[in-house]
Amino acid sequence: MRSEQVRASAPGKIILFGEHAVVYGRPAIAAPVTQVQATATVQPAPPGAGFTIAAPDIGQVFSFATKTSTAAPDDPLAVAVQLVLADLSVEAPDATLTIRSTIPIASGLGSGAAVATALVRALAAYLGRPLAPDQISALVYQVEKLHHGTPSGIDNTVIAYEQPIYFVRKPAKDPAGFPVGLIERLIVGAPLILVIGDTGLPSPTKQIVAQVRRTRERDPARCDARLDQIGDVAVSARHAIEAGDVDTLGPLMDENHALLIELGVSSPKLNAVVEAARIAGAIGAKLSGAGHGGNMIALVQRQKDAADVIEALKETGAKNVICTTIQSTLPQVQK
Ligand code: MEV
Repeated sequence: MRSEQVRASAPGKIILFGEHAVVYGRPAIAAPVTQVQATATVQPAPPGAGFTIAAPDIGQVFSFATKTSTAAPDDPLAVAVQLVLADLSVEAPDATLTIRSTIPIASGLGSGAAVATALVRALAAYLGRPLAPDQISALVYQVEKLHHGTPSGIDNTVIAYEQPIYFVRKPAKDPAGFPVGLIERLIVGAPLILVIGDTGLPSPTKQIVAQVRRTRERDPARCDARLDQIGDVAVSARHAIEAGDVDTLGPLMDENHALLIELGVSSPKLNAVVEAARIAGAIGAKLSGAGHGGNMIALVQRQKDAADVIEALKETGAKNVICTTIQSTLPQVQK
């Protein structure tokens, strides 16, 4: 058991291609966004003090012990703690775990998965048993199920591995019940300069994923055709990203956005912000994440083009506009 405090963080994420279709086994591409972060700090408490979780950003503080917890049984933070303790077969330590996050909630930037990842990382390290990315991802997937119902696993994967990934959900599960996804580290042939704009409207992933499920139940052939097309776009995008062919990626983003409109997950506000980015010089733009509200992303050719796009997004009412560059990072993802 450690006596000094331990701190760990986790980035936000964007889906570059393939959201929603990834839930149905089509490929998707995602990347971490390090400009926003969740941070977890574990500090030792006096013997007998018990384990306390504090999440001041959401006004939540509760004490927790393996047997008597004041947290709701499905509280994602308490569940994440329980999963770590069960995985490591240890009792809750006398300590305080504080969660902070600069990632807007329900905006498509992976806030829930990042908070859980930072928590799992910090607590496991505090207990002297740091976990590898695949172990962290598997635990966070269990927490994601509380947020999202039927998550594909892409959010927990990209955030736990902290690098651009090409991801395909597999229907098979490992003996512990985790979905076995094909995860490949994505080689980014040329840096991708992206402007990320938040519509300020909520993007409730669970409800929107359920909406797509109902759409699919009503007209499976039509919906599956759209999902196949989105999957094909993701495959083409992967080749373009690896080849450093930024010019091809713009139109692929536009195509992906058009297919998401047909799937019924965009909104007038998202479409307006996406269109404003294109007019201001983005070579492609699309919603990112579950849709309805939340974030959109716009690809620009050069860093100097980003300023015009940022201004156009703000004029259209976007909040928290971020400019980020996606490039290959080490270490390697296991296949
Ligand atoms: C959410 O970031 C992406 C969705 O495809 C849901 C999922 O993959 O679980 C909408």
